[in-house]
Amino acid sequence: MKAHSENPFFRRIRSFARRDSRMTAGQSQAWDRSAPVFCLQQKDGKLDAVAAFGREAPSYLEIGFGSGQSLAALAEQKPELNFIGIETFKPGIGALLMRIEAVPLSNVRIYYADAVEVLEQCIPDQSLQGIQIFFPDPWPKSRHHKRRLIQSPFIHLVAQKLRPDGLLHLATDWEHYAKGMMQVLSAEPSLRNLAGPGKFAERSSQRPLVTKFEGRGEQEGRAIWELQFARV
Ligand SMILES: C[S@@+](CC[C@H](N)C(=O)[O-])C[C@H]1O[C@@H](n2cnc3c(N)ncnc32)[C@H](O)[C@@H]1O
Repeated sequence: MKAHSENPFFRRIRSFARRDSRMTAGQSQAWDRSAPVFCLQQKDGKLDAVAAFGREAPSYLEIGFGSGQSLAALAEQKPELNFIGIETFKPGIGALLMRIEAVPLSNVRIYYADAVEVLEQCIPDQSLQGIQIFFPDPWPKSRHHKRRLIQSPFIHLVAQKLRPDGLLHLATDWEHYAKGMMQVLSAEPSLRNLAGPGKFAERSSQRPLVTKFEGRGEQEGRAIWELQFARV
């Protein structure tokens, strides 16, 4: 495996589209009030979760949480756990901050940044009990497949952040991407498939809600593919 800085995946490829959409007034007000409280800064370097959450508790990470439906629902269901979200779409973070204020939730922290950089610079190795990535951008055109997040170097990096037995949980509604995810995860020596070799997982209660992108996939008649691997 090449060092990260030498690997083209880490040097150039962006898995997210730069969308310029504005936050709503409600999102923008929640941002002003609550981003200073709930957002973590990539520039602060390695995360001290005990300091960030003010307590010792198992930490879970969601990468690309969109508007944060699944993250907020899980955080509400499991107040004894810490949840960290990473997202590059600012209105999505605004939406999650609105939800954090409305419930209210105290066990969520957010990075407004590229997950690859946050994993490399901020998340200590073997520090997470679980990582979830639900409906990552499918980049369906073959010339865009290189922009897909779930590729070997990324999964190798992700796996390093899990504690032994920690769970990596993925879902997608794109069959071609699902098969690619299965190949990439199965080839990562530090992960084992909880459903058995080559098998997709049953729908899990760890995904408490149908997210926006899952709902869209179902409406358009696509099946949902779910993968659950544990760190060995
Ligand atoms: C198709 S959406 C799915 C959102 C949500 N998980 C859901 O199921 O509704 C994918 C999300 O991943 C985010 N994303 C893509 N690449 C990312 C990266 N490198 N770091 C952080 N977020 C990323 C995008 O901004 C987008 O909001």
